[in-house]
This record gives sequence, C-alpha cells and structure tokens, in this order.
Amino acid sequence: MTAYDVEPGDQIHAGHPVTVDRYTKSARINHWITATCLVLLALSGLSLFHPSLFFLTGLFGGGQPTRIIHPWIGVLLFFSFSGLFIRFWRANLWRREDGTWLAQLRDVLAANDDKLPEVGKYNAGQKTVFWGMSFLIVVLIASGLVIWDQYFAAYTTIDQKRLAVLIHALAAVVIICVWIVHVYAAIWVRGTVSAMTRGRVTGGWAWRHHRKWLRELVGGRQTRS
Ligand code: HEM
Repeated sequence: MTAYDVEPGDQIHAGHPVTVDRYTKSARINHWITATCLVLLALSGLSLFHPSLFFLTGLFGGGQPTRIIHPWIGVLLFFSFSGLFIRFWRANLWRREDGTWLAQLRDVLAANDDKLPEVGKYNAGQKTVFWGMSFLIVVLIASGLVIWDQYFAAYTTIDQKRLAVLIHALAAVVIICVWIVHVYAAIWVRGTVSAMTRGRVTGGWAWRHHRKWLRELVGGRQTRS
C-alpha cells in the first residue's frame, strides 16, 4: 500500500548524486500560476488599499483597469489554488510527529536536524502554511464576492459590505505574511527551490529534511536506476 504522503510521480533515481522526483510538471505549472496570481493580487490589492500605494495601479494600466482586473485574478487564484489543494491535501494531514517537530522549533531554527523527529513529505511548518493559505483563500474569495459590486451589489447590504471589506483587508495582510514565510523557508532550506523549478531534489536533501518520506519511497520500491 502506498504511504499517505507519497504522491503520484514521487520517485528515486539511483546515480551520483541520487535524485528524488518531488513534483510533476503539471504540479509545478499549477504552483507557478498560483504564485503569479498571488503576487499580482497583492500588488493590485495594495494599490487600492491606501492612497500612498495608488501609484502601483500604473502596473495594471491605471485605477479603473486595476479595479476591474483585481477580482478576476482572485477568481483565477481560487481555482488554481484549488488544484494545488486537491493534489496536496492528503500529504499535509497532521501526524503525531508534527506536534513534536513544532515543540522543537528551537532545534529547527538552529538546524539541529538530528534532534528532530523524522518527517514525511512535509514538515509541520509547511503543513501550517498549507492549511493557513487554504483557509485565507476561502476567506478572501468569500469576502471578495460580497464587495464585488459590479456583479453582486444587489445581494448584500451596506453593513455586510463594510464588514467584508475589513475581513478582506485583514486576510490579505495575513496571507502576504504567510507568503513571505513560505518564500523565506523555501530559500533558507538550501536545495528546496529546485523541487519547484526542476521537480527534483537530491537524495541528501530528502534524507536530511524528509527522511520518513524517503524511507517510504525506498520501502515502496519507487526506485529507478
Ligand atoms: C512566488 C514565490 C513562491 C516561491 C519561491 C515558492 C516556492 C515553493 C517551493 C520551493 C516549494 C516546494 C517546497 C517543498 O517541496 O519542500 C513550494 C511548495 C508549495 N507552494 Fe510555493 N512558492 C511561492 C509562492 C506560492 C504561493 C503564492 C502559494 C499559494 C498561494 C504557494 C503554495 C505552495 C504549496 C501549496 C506548496 C506545496 C507544499 C505544501 O503543500 O505544503 N506557493 N513553493
């Protein structure tokens, strides 16, 4: 039986160095479309958030085009992220070792890897980011629809819109912070970025950071020479 966190396409390749496939091409395309949407959403959203940032509307052709395009990028992000969610939710389910890993955050930050429990495809930090993003994207699309007056003005009251604007802005600030943590972690843990660019990591990286996942791959004989 395949382990819960071994995803389609995960595979070890013997060689010097050993490499491990971590993301299929379609997963990577799905990820980068999502990432591009979030960056564009943040820029267009910030430009509408405060007058001092209005100059950012220049990137989208001015104030009106920015107002029109921002919600549509949000819809695209929602569907694109749904694709990531369907692919990755199972491997992000919380496991017993995740609590231990979180409790040892000091060792994580000090890179004392040998003191940490072996983790599967994702560690507790990645899982927290995953579920945080999932929750925030639902909040953003739901509150965004309430304030999308071009199409839905008649369906909500002024008071509901006021509350939705507040929730939308708060969720946006939090997801930008979560995104910064995600990108920082991807760069900080050396060898991670290639997982999302070329689709593969080295065996050494998998052994050091996701040993349980590597063992599952070896045990399941998803190996090619
Ligand atoms: C634009 C900058 C971004 C960079 C440089 C980046 C980089 C990466 C990298 C390197 C991984 C692989 C991590 C691993 O396998 O251990 C990854 C995974 C992932 N990224 Fe991003 N990412 C970015 C933006 C985003 C955005 C905006 C989202 C969603 C809104 C996102 C959602 C995810 C998800 C769901 C995963 C799978 C990991 C998991 O399920 O926990 N990423 N990213």
